[in-house]
Amino acid sequence: MHFSAFRSSQLSMGFSFSRVTFNFLMFVLACIAIGNSQPMLNSVEQESVYRVLESLNSDVPWRSLFPDDLCSSAPHGVVCDYATVTGTLNIVELSFGYVSDYNSNPTCSTNSTLFDPSLFSSFLHLRKLFFYECFTQQPFFLPDLSLFGLGLEELVFINNPTLFGSLSDNIGNMTSLRRLIITGTSVSGKIPIGFGELTNLEEATLSRNSLTGDIPGNLSNMKKLKVLDLSQNGLTGKIPGTIGGLENLLKFDLSSNRFSGEIPETMKGLRALEFLDLSENSFVGGGVPLFLSNMSKLQGVYLSGNELGGVIPDIWENLSGINGIGLSRVGLVGEIPVSMGVCLRNLTYLGLDNNKLTGGVPTEFEKLGLLSELNLHNNNLSGRVPFSLGFLGKVGGKLRLEGNPELCVDEGVIKSLYNVKTCNEVENPRSALVDGTSSSTRIGDRICRLLILFGVLLW
Ligand SMILES: *[C@@H]1O[C@H](CO)[C@@H](O)[C@H](O)[C@H]1NC(C)=O
Ligand SMILES: *[C@@H]1O[C@H](CO)[C@@H](O)[C@H](O)[C@H]1NC(C)=O
Ligand SMILES: *[C@@H]1O[C@H](CO)[C@@H](O)[C@H](O)[C@H]1NC(C)=O
Ligand SMILES: *[C@@H]1O[C@H](CO)[C@@H](O)[C@H](O)[C@H]1NC(C)=O
Ligand SMILES: *[C@@H]1O[C@H](CO)[C@@H](O)[C@H](O)[C@H]1NC(C)=O
Ligand SMILES: *[C@@H]1O[C@H](CO)[C@@H](O)[C@H](O)[C@H]1NC(C)=O
Ligand SMILES: *[C@@H]1O[C@H](CO)[C@@H](O)[C@H](O)[C@H]1NC(C)=O
Repeated sequence: MHFSAFRSSQLSMGFSFSRVTFNFLMFVLACIAIGNSQPMLNSVEQESVYRVLESLNSDVPWRSLFPDDLCSSAPHGVVCDYATVTGTLNIVELSFGYVSDYNSNPTCSTNSTLFDPSLFSSFLHLRKLFFYECFTQQPFFLPDLSLFGLGLEELVFINNPTLFGSLSDNIGNMTSLRRLIITGTSVSGKIPIGFGELTNLEEATLSRNSLTGDIPGNLSNMKKLKVLDLSQNGLTGKIPGTIGGLENLLKFDLSSNRFSGEIPETMKGLRALEFLDLSENSFVGGGVPLFLSNMSKLQGVYLSGNELGGVIPDIWENLSGINGIGLSRVGLVGEIPVSMGVCLRNLTYLGLDNNKLTGGVPTEFEKLGLLSELNLHNNNLSGRVPFSLGFLGKVGGKLRLEGNPELCVDEGVIKSLYNVKTCNEVENPRSALVDGTSSSTRIGDRICRLLILFGVLLW
């Protein structure tokens, strides 16, 4: 989903900025300390860099292109720095695989692999290891993490379909790890129990692999975690209650796995959450969680494809920053709260299709100026579709209404586009003002209405 990509890249930029700043300061300090003496990389690391490069891409004559000390001149992505403790010059970053002109790491050839993974143990002061589209034909197995020094901060494998193996059990002692990104690979097996001991971890993106088993251990000590993305694996079990301790989590994505049980109430502790995607799992019961009402920073909430049941709760009053809601195929009954159309001013996508919703389509949806996709098909909605021709023209085919036998459109609307019947008598659109079913569930509608009226008066 494109939201995910956006969020990760935003965070990555933040991280690399602070890294650059830090490296620069270290460099200045080191220059002051060492004066004019010529920096030198030790020969073991120099040779190991050549051998890794040659194994990833033998078409490039690395030794003749970069014959000098790799700390004075190295390919983009090979970074030297003064080690914090020893003050010696060491390789601290290795990034492979061309990403863009701004990030032109050494290209990996289509048949690239690493003949000797133990080469990594030469880099005692490595902070970052990054592979983008390097293992695409030749199999390569994720090395045991004990090969790396305990100072490793970023381990990144993106789109390496022939990367196999599993995360090693000793992951818990990589306590410097800030970013663990293994996505688009064939890595399988379980998430090791030590995962919860990575107390400095800020991003865990383990999406699009073949991971199985449950989310292990106690997560509540991972206080710095901002991104937990385990989407598109074969993971099972319940969401652990300790998830609620992740008070700085911004993105939580478990979509397209086989998680089950109820969505735990402890998730209300995720107060900073901006993006929640639990869609396409086997969560059952409990309805749409009421605690969402307290997650005031939410921008996207996707729960589609789980048998949650219940009515759509009236929780939208404080959630005006939401731009996407996916509640397709979740077994919803009852009416669509008018408050969704009143409060969710930034909404661009709303999916409520394939439920058992009844009642009318709130005319208020028409006022959502950014709305570009509204899926209401396959429900039991009834009455006249209250939208103007202007609004229908704007959303066009991104408004889906078919499969609601009691729904009708006015004469003049291109019926075939929506596959609903033409209204044959005057049927009133439903709105909060004319709605007779005045109950406690309508209180939220009134509050949003008052807020909007108040705003108009002030203006
Ligand atoms: C990869 O392919 C190149 C030709 O494109 C060849 O020279 C090289 O030996 C191959 N390397 C491996 C590891 O198969
Ligand atoms: C890492 O953890 C494993 C157990 O998971 C332990 O056997 C090993 O000694 C630890 N290594 C270091 C360097 O602490
Ligand atoms: C998780 O760890 C925290 C802090 O160490 C502790 O207070 C809590 O009881 C633990 N929870 C579980 C379920 O083990
Ligand atoms: C929202 O937060 C308030 C204040 O912490 C709390 O009293 C209330 O129970 C929460 N609501 C839900 C539905 O969790
Ligand atoms: C919205 O926020 C206000 C103020 O923080 C709070 O009093 C109210 O209960 C919240 N509404 C909902 C539905 O959570
Ligand atoms: C709605 O979106 C606009 C533009 O993206 C943004 O500036 C604004 O803060 C959003 N509103 C809320 C309540 O988040
Ligand atoms: C759809 O709604 C009508 C009343 O509008 C009701 O008679 C019918 O049973 C409903 N069908 C389903 C499948 O809920």
